[in-house]
Amino acid sequence: MLELSAIGRRYRVGEREVVALADIDIAFPAGSLTTVVGRSGCGKTTLLRILAGLEQPSEGEIRRTGSKPIRIGVVFQEARLMPWLDVAANVGFGLRGRVPRAVAAERCAAAIELVGLSAFAGAMPAQLSGGMAQRVAIARALVQEPDLLLLDEPFAALDAFTRRSMQNELVSIWQRRRPTIVFVTHDVEEAVLLGERALEMQAGRVVGREDIALPYPRDPTDPEVNLHRRAILARLMTAPAPVPA
Ligand SMILES: Nc1ncnc2c1ncn2[C@@H]1O[C@H](COP(=O)(O)OP(=O)(O)O)[C@@H](O)[C@H]1O
Ligand SMILES: [Mg+2]
Repeated sequence: MLELSAIGRRYRVGEREVVALADIDIAFPAGSLTTVVGRSGCGKTTLLRILAGLEQPSEGEIRRTGSKPIRIGVVFQEARLMPWLDVAANVGFGLRGRVPRAVAAERCAAAIELVGLSAFAGAMPAQLSGGMAQRVAIARALVQEPDLLLLDEPFAALDAFTRRSMQNELVSIWQRRRPTIVFVTHDVEEAVLLGERALEMQAGRVVGREDIALPYPRDPTDPEVNLHRRAILARLMTAPAPVPA
């Protein structure tokens, strides 16, 4: 279980202070799949970076319950692969020097298999499509066997077909391995297709929450999916416009 209480993040930009996050109180139960949805600039990436430990909050507290330290995997919007390394080496990069070479090779092969790229383990990044590169980025996060998997609009740059199959793949990985997932998106439909719940953000705050108890894989043409979509959109479109701090 991961819990944020009264988290805030402010940035100084010249003379001005930008409030990127304010009064964030959320708990992420172990093994849950939460989506975070809101328009560009509402604070989604800042929230994810704080969860990843890449950034410190200006105020508030992060609590983790459970005794062992947690492993965290992060996937960004762009794959950020190292162009001079093949797929397997990119996936295994973070394991170098941390686990024996044979164990690393085995875990890499398993992660690459999980994202359906076994035939491309020896390919170079320049030979991959956008969707394949993003799958490599997911494998690179999964190979760490993360307890917490953080994804920041990972499918935003993909075509609609590739995106649909990647969404289904991610859900199936979650069902098999049960990491706690926080998935950030600006796409309301994606938030509904993936999340057990969707948190709605506006101007640095969590302004709403939609619980979605539909079975997976979800169908975008399902009227139930549409009802959840409309509920979220109705709240996000009527919430007050973001005010510059
Ligand atoms: N390093 C930074 N310095 C100054 N302002 C920042 C920085 N990072 C984010 N912000 C500001 O914080 C707000 C939230 O940004 P961000 O978390 O990236 O939103 P989102 O991911 O939802 O688009 C925006 O107003 C953005 O300009
Ligand atoms: Mg962002």
